[in-house]
Amino acid sequence: MPLQEILLHKMANFRLSSKKEVVQAQEAAMQNPEMFWSSYAKESFHWFTPWDRVLDYDFHKAKVSWFEGGKVNITVNCLDRYAQTKPNARAIVWEPNNPEDEGIVYTYAELLCAVNKMANTLKQQGVSKGDRVCLYLPMIPELAIAVLACARIGAIHSVVFAGFSAQALAARINDASCSLVICSDGANRGSKVLDLKSIVDEALQSCDCVSHVLVVKYVGLDSHWVEGRDIDLKPLLTNASDVCEAEVMDAEDPLFILYTSGSTGKPKGMLHTTGGYMTYTAYTFQNVFQYEEGDVYWCTADIGWITGHSYIVYGPLLNGATTLMFEGVPSYPDYGRFWAMIEKYQVNQFYTAPTAIRALAKASDSLVDDYDLSSLKVLGTVGEPINEEAWQWYNKRIGKEKCPIVDTWWQTETGGIMISSIPGSTPSIPTFATQPMPGIQAQLMDDKGQPVQNKEASGKLCIGFPWPSMARTIYGDHQRYIDTYFSAYPGYYFTGDGADRDDEGNYRITGRVDDVIIVSGHNLGTAPIEDAINEHDLIAESAIVGIPHDVKGNALCAFVVCSGDGEQVTLSEVNALISSKVGPIAKLDVLYMVKGLPKTRSGKIMRRILRKVGQGQFTNLGDISTLLNPDVVDSIIQTVRG
Ligand code: PRX
Repeated sequence: MPLQEILLHKMANFRLSSKKEVVQAQEAAMQNPEMFWSSYAKESFHWFTPWDRVLDYDFHKAKVSWFEGGKVNITVNCLDRYAQTKPNARAIVWEPNNPEDEGIVYTYAELLCAVNKMANTLKQQGVSKGDRVCLYLPMIPELAIAVLACARIGAIHSVVFAGFSAQALAARINDASCSLVICSDGANRGSKVLDLKSIVDEALQSCDCVSHVLVVKYVGLDSHWVEGRDIDLKPLLTNASDVCEAEVMDAEDPLFILYTSGSTGKPKGMLHTTGGYMTYTAYTFQNVFQYEEGDVYWCTADIGWITGHSYIVYGPLLNGATTLMFEGVPSYPDYGRFWAMIEKYQVNQFYTAPTAIRALAKASDSLVDDYDLSSLKVLGTVGEPINEEAWQWYNKRIGKEKCPIVDTWWQTETGGIMISSIPGSTPSIPTFATQPMPGIQAQLMDDKGQPVQNKEASGKLCIGFPWPSMARTIYGDHQRYIDTYFSAYPGYYFTGDGADRDDEGNYRITGRVDDVIIVSGHNLGTAPIEDAINEHDLIAESAIVGIPHDVKGNALCAFVVCSGDGEQVTLSEVNALISSKVGPIAKLDVLYMVKGLPKTRSGKIMRRILRKVGQGQFTNLGDISTLLNPDVVDSIIQTVRG
């Protein structure tokens, strides 16, 4: 092997443990990304057959493939190899909603058996490679097991967060033409029991593609049962064999679809494939969290979101880690629950969202001080910008100023962490995600659509070169994939985020620059919420904007125009409507009834004006002379002031 290749191979396979190594890895991945990622992929995983070609891409057509021709199964790399080498090591540790109830531990050997049983059950139901399976489950072990079981047999999982409404669930099931749904009768959420099965029943009234529903009888609700369609999962699992050969997948065969909000009403089914996703999630998990053998790692996300896919299930298991999975919420039975769990399980790496940190910081500090948090080594945050106050609280109160904080910036579309500090090697800087990971060619674009030349700058964040775990398409709509991500800046992937960069090249994400609002870490497109509001009989049109909120990051503020004079609508009735159409995760905090919405001459709502007025800024609204109806602005200000 030539010296250059040997060096690159080394760079790709070192755990990053010094500033020098990070710089070397970044340089190696920049010089020769193909060799960098192929070295890591070859060294780190079992492949049935090596690939024919490392990378093929054309950003203008939004075509990307990594390791094509390589044959692999991600579950062999997550499970079988550890079930052989360390069968009794803990893979998943599950903590139930109620702290009085018993948790469950799955060793690697046990998890492999459980996944195989589920995989054989899916096969018995006629599911085969390439079929889509919808998972609508709470955070119980069956969810992680079902995800892996789909991957075992080459079925494409589409996990829908169990907080979406029947209508939102139906839209996702139909978009992917899922043939099977796995759900539970219900879910425990703090002191509440949620009925999930009836949501599935309602959704399936408009889904002809689904032939069967496998139901985990979990909370003991007396669910409605559709004979011939609904099947009790437990007896099937009991009788299924725990041996199931892994399907041989091409590296570019689809692994999963995961929906994310867009600026039009229809959710975008981001399609991720097998080999590249496996490579990048494993690499980033190892380096960003600095996981060491025997550590206990905990990510508080739900598997219904990408963070749960990549950093509860796949990334940790690919590294043979112990991953803690929690059914409940941070506030139950009180706001000390997270800290109690860190003490109980001696958690070493803890990964959560700014909205949780802000809510926890508001609770009494004595709830933190009651617990021993000395096991912690690394703290992580993800999902939205973290404000300085929350960062400092996290650092002092939870990390005792001894744990590096990784502020990880990434997206459903990117599959894995794109920008983050590396604990022990590169510094954490409050409110900065800091440095792109090796192989990530971040770029800021100016208003003219050109890359900004200065190091210290602000702009729209783009990525100039493919990375292994990027989404390959929007399921069933490649043109929309091109239009959304590859058209604004030809030759680049556009993230939809704005960012600042300091003179050392550290990135600080400032937020969305499109019609997506992040509320409590959930991405909400304005369009589906406005569509729901507009279904109200008395409402003619509406516009929603995000306004700052000290716990949620952003709150939703709606401006609605009623169809007739003197008509009144209430916040609670509009929220009930949104809840039924979108789900309880979307709720308005404020609603203003106004006479009209500010519109451009082409009929587009000028949201920047509404955003400012909604925040209580009534002057310096920018140029409003181009509006079709400039006088409406004054009347909106009067309403908000009043
Ligand atoms: O705006 C960015 C924000 O979350 C968006 C992606 O949301 P989603 O696809 O739901 O994935 C969230 C979990 C990976 C991004 O476009 N975002 C994510 N992480 C950060 C962030 N904003 C600032 N700082 C972050 N660390």
